[in-house]
Amino acid sequence: MSNLLVIEVSPRGPYSVSRNLAKRFTEKWQSSHGGDVAVRDLSTTDVPYISLPWIGGAFTPPEQHSPEMVEAIRVSDELIAELKATDEILIATPMYNFSIPAVLKSWVDHVLRVGVTFSPSYEGLVTGKKVTVIIATGGDFSPGAPFESANVASAYLRQVLGLIGITDLNIILAGPTLTVDQGQTTIDDFSERFEPALEAAAS
Ligand SMILES: Cc1cc2nc3c(=O)[nH]c(=O)nc-3n(C[C@H](O)[C@H](O)[C@H](O)COP(=O)(O)O)c2cc1C
Repeated sequence: MSNLLVIEVSPRGPYSVSRNLAKRFTEKWQSSHGGDVAVRDLSTTDVPYISLPWIGGAFTPPEQHSPEMVEAIRVSDELIAELKATDEILIATPMYNFSIPAVLKSWVDHVLRVGVTFSPSYEGLVTGKKVTVIIATGGDFSPGAPFESANVASAYLRQVLGLIGITDLNIILAGPTLTVDQGQTTIDDFSERFEPALEAAAS
């Protein structure tokens, strides 16, 4: 039996399209895999910016770590451990300013660690994971849309996850969510459109 780690990012709770889609994905995943689901909610997790003690801890051998360094990399150790322990990962995130929200960038900074998630020769050490990324976007960045190339979020996540060995990556772009916020459609009617993509990704 496989397990799934769901990484949630949006602070918008019930108004969040990425959370609505993540819930649908998780239900489908559970009915086809029946495994355990763990949730890491970055909107309620303290993910500090990288500090000097963090850099010391991440770039020196454990026997040289001061208590301050150990404490600074504790979150990083925890986030990496849960990543390595899972078979599948779902990242559900908003697009902010054409990229990802700062808290998800901070998660990336903690999770990309030389000697732990990638080797000094840039070989990924988090292999064999299937990852789905749902990006809720206010605008439309689908193939052929005028602003397609402005979507930095997809390319960035593909790059950083690829570095740690995650290459089985399926990105679902869910936009334009502006139609929900402007009341032209409901969150459920909007999400319904992504059912086939979610079904395929969760199978
Ligand atoms: C700070 C901020 C920046 C945003 N930047 C963009 C953007 O660059 N492009 C875009 O299409 N939508 C942008 N949006 C809209 C969100 O991507 C959209 O509301 C999305 O549905 C948020 O995800 P959620 O519904 O899961 O919270 C932004 C929203 C906020 C709050």
